Amino acid sequence: MVVASPKPLSSEKLRDVELPIIDFSAERSEVSKLIVKACEDYGFFKVINHGVPEDIIANLEHEGLSFFALPDSEKQRAGPANPLGYGCKNIGLHGDKGEVEYLTLHTNPLSLAETSRTISNNPSKFSSAASGYIEAVRGLACELLNLMAEGLLVPDTSVFSRLIRDVDSDSILRLNHYPPLQLDWDTSPSSYDRIKVGFGEHSDPQILTLLRSNDVSGLQISIEDGVWIPVPPDPTAFCANVGDMLQAMTNGRFVSVRHRALTNSYKSRISMAYFGGPPLQAWITAPPEMLASNANRLSLYRPFTWAEYKKAVYSLRLGDRRLDLFRTCSDAAAPGLAS
Ligand code: OGA
Ligand code: NI
Repeated sequence: MVVASPKPLSSEKLRDVELPIIDFSAERSEVSKLIVKACEDYGFFKVINHGVPEDIIANLEHEGLSFFALPDSEKQRAGPANPLGYGCKNIGLHGDKGEVEYLTLHTNPLSLAETSRTISNNPSKFSSAASGYIEAVRGLACELLNLMAEGLLVPDTSVFSRLIRDVDSDSILRLNHYPPLQLDWDTSPSSYDRIKVGFGEHSDPQILTLLRSNDVSGLQISIEDGVWIPVPPDPTAFCANVGDMLQAMTNGRFVSVRHRALTNSYKSRISMAYFGGPPLQAWITAPPEMLASNANRLSLYRPFTWAEYKKAVYSLRLGDRRLDLFRTCSDAAAPGLAS
């Protein structure tokens, strides 16, 4: 397979932008308006005062760091990621690579217990840290989705959150570890040369992602091709981003933001991403109120199931724009940031 070589990082543009911050303790109707605006403008926002207890976050981070500190041979016991389990440098099945190692877990308790057996000598300690975290971030994700529906004036305010609350929800938890790069400082003098792509450019396929990282930078979002906005690290906050399913269910009003993670040569970075996804058999369609904002009341996407979408995701490269394959009219202007 021929894999195109990526453009050098040094040829890309960086832009410092103040990204939206949602203070969860503020007044509800105000919060819901600000979230809608953030999802329309960026598909991304930072949540502070989110109420997820610090010890729940610290427990899972500790379990993740202990796992990633194991010798390779022990980590391989939990791999290869197919797609659950341990992966290193290879992302997906189509040649995508990055300076990252990761653990992908299904949030279903049975699956989590099973995978935990390959991850830790104390599997119940690992799975209880993971399930405590999953429960807390699922609660936060549902609240955010309810606030979005309220802000969008959709009367059925649990229309989005229901899908990830469902016992059959196909949600994922991924721990990403970006080790510091071991570089020869004499032969790579420019600081930008010491940065590598950890997790390449992509959008998340699910409904909503909540990502928390330690105090090391690396995450960037892009709302314009080739222009990257660094997201300053904040271990006390969550980064929320719209996934492809939420773009489809808002009929293109919310943007499934493209993002990536870079590594550095100084400190190791760990991130924990919860991807709230629908049940496999769920039909993904926009509620009628979301079509009203479109002049012709047309749906931009044909109805499809999450299972069908997932199949497309697995058959394509990490950076492919898979949602385009589900558009009702392929020559219509892309939905997105300009309005
Ligand atoms: C992902 C992702 C970014 C990060 O896992 O989908 O975008 O900061 N991770 O680890
Ligand atoms: Ni992502």
